[in-house]
Amino acid sequence: MIKDGIHLIDCKKGMRKIRAGTVDLICTDPPYIKDEWEAAYKNLAEGAGRILKPGGYLITYCGHYYLPGVLDILRTENLTFYWIVAQLNSGSKSLMHHRNIIAGYKPILIFQKNPVNPSNKIFMDVISGRQSKDHHPWEQSIHEALHLLTRFGSPGDLMVDPFLGSGTWCLAAQLIGIRHIGFEINPDTYRTAQERLTQRPLDLSSFGPCDTCRDCGSLDRCGSRDPHAGCEREAVTGGGTA
Ligand SMILES: C[S@@+](CC[C@H](N)C(=O)[O-])C[C@H]1O[C@@H](n2cnc3c(N)ncnc32)[C@H](O)[C@@H]1O
Repeated sequence: MIKDGIHLIDCKKGMRKIRAGTVDLICTDPPYIKDEWEAAYKNLAEGAGRILKPGGYLITYCGHYYLPGVLDILRTENLTFYWIVAQLNSGSKSLMHHRNIIAGYKPILIFQKNPVNPSNKIFMDVISGRQSKDHHPWEQSIHEALHLLTRFGSPGDLMVDPFLGSGTWCLAAQLIGIRHIGFEINPDTYRTAQERLTQRPLDLSSFGPCDTCRDCGSLDRCGSRDPHAGCEREAVTGGGTA
């Protein structure tokens, strides 16, 4: 059995080192680009079917364009479709040239290892994150990871991220006391994740601006590493400096 923590290894090999039926959650963001997405999601489906506990969740980002193919790959004898979450895009929106559509949200797919049992926590299926690309060009927001992990996981659970990138899912898991294992194939990206996961104290400014700061325009407070207490006070009292 592979140790908790992150590993510089192809996830296909990494997942084979995990005992079958021992993982509560797989949370991940595979590369959804031409030539790579199909093999990535096939590895994910195979690994998830084996390592998840019965009732364990697979939560994965997915590009719009590949959604039909990814659904086909993930729907296996072991995995059942559970839900799609819409993650509203903050900041600039991408124009999907091949469809002339401006994408305002990103799909996040949830599958469950059989048997399907609803989560006992109420969960909202439209979420908004904060764009942050400080650590990886495909970095996802830690706000989304925290939202989903707190609804589908519990402290003490084991989460695996087979496509670690800069380690957003693992960092979120670490913050809420969920054990984690991550796999990354690129040595530079692996080092970035390693630094991010071992930084002390944690740099909260890297989480991006909170909703309050975005709305009142006090973005400088988010950069101040102050967890926005001052900004919230101003928003509540309607105050601020003249
Ligand atoms: C979309 S990025 C993940 C970004 C991540 N969500 C973040 O917030 O930084 C996908 C990552 O998977 C890695 N990867 C691709 N194929 C892999 C494989 N077979 N095994 C492990 N990692 C792989 C890539 O190097 C890339 O860093």
